Amino acid sequence: KWPRKIFSGIQPTGSLHLGNYLGAVRPWVQLQNANDDVTVCIVDLHSITMPHNPPQLRENIFVMAATLLACGIDPAKSTLFVQSAVREHAEFNWILSSLTTMPRLAQLPQFREKSRLVKDVPLGLYVYPVLQAADIMLYKATHVPVGEDQLQHIQLAQHLARTYNGRYGETFPICHAIIEESEASRVLSLRDPSKKMSKSDGNPKATINLADSPDLIAQKIKKAVTDFTSDISYHPGQRPGVSNLVNIHSQVTGQTIKSVVDEATTLDTAKYKERVAEAVVEHLRPIREQIEHHLTRRNEMIYLLEMGAEKARQQAQRTLDDVKQRLGL
Ligand code: ADP
Ligand code: NA
Repeated sequence: KWPRKIFSGIQPTGSLHLGNYLGAVRPWVQLQNANDDVTVCIVDLHSITMPHNPPQLRENIFVMAATLLACGIDPAKSTLFVQSAVREHAEFNWILSSLTTMPRLAQLPQFREKSRLVKDVPLGLYVYPVLQAADIMLYKATHVPVGEDQLQHIQLAQHLARTYNGRYGETFPICHAIIEESEASRVLSLRDPSKKMSKSDGNPKATINLADSPDLIAQKIKKAVTDFTSDISYHPGQRPGVSNLVNIHSQVTGQTIKSVVDEATTLDTAKYKERVAEAVVEHLRPIREQIEHHLTRRNEMIYLLEMGAEKARQQAQRTLDDVKQRLGL
């Protein structure tokens, strides 16, 4: 009954790592290019729920916008904008906050984890998933690509949509989480392949950033933890380190795992790492160049983001006008 609409939010954390790219942003670009209706929102209002540095945040918003554009998010096909530019997000957040309960928010795992990291827990951190629901519902999104750790937040958004529809009349679709579950989309830490690659990893050598120089990428892959067998095979269970490299190699070249492994039969791990590094560098080169290109043209980016915000605002205002009408506001 509802037209298919994809909503993705991403925090402006600065540059992305290879895991974010292969597991999240590239799939969004694929949806966009398959003619899905895709909205990508840089969720800066979410970023202030933890202690932050204002000049750094502003810079990170630009770096994130440049990175998304460089990865192929196309403002002519998708809606790309910064959350705080569309006031309706904060306003709808307030309205939705009366449709759920404190115990329900208190038991969400992300709140429990993050609230442990700060002495005085900000109210914003607590309400965070309500704002996330507002983001999704303002655009009547039907599908939300997320990592597994966000599943409970999507369930909260579903609960808020059901509660709203029940009280005030059928207005919102119940969104579905799209969880990228394939082994292939999971990129592991280069230093500890029992964990996923993550920006919160204390060891920067474990993570490949899209903005890393070719030399740095080669160094990181050269030092990637593998095992004591020198041939190349794909056995994620027994040989997670080597298999992670094979997987990354296959993802960036578009070759199957089998063809990657077949071509590597004569190589030992050291030589193979050089080949993987070349393939990763080759794939990321145009992205890195595009990031730099966009960052040197800030006014163009500001313009693109404002056009995106204008598109988003029109939908958001329509939704919120209807909501206020139904609530007697
Ligand atoms: P991080 O773990 O670096 O903090 P986030 O939790 O912000 O990353 O995730 C942002 C998006 O990137 C999510 O959709 C998540 O599933 C995806 N993602 C994060 N790390 C990886 C990874 N190592 N492999 C594949 N996808 C990932
Ligand atoms: Na995370």
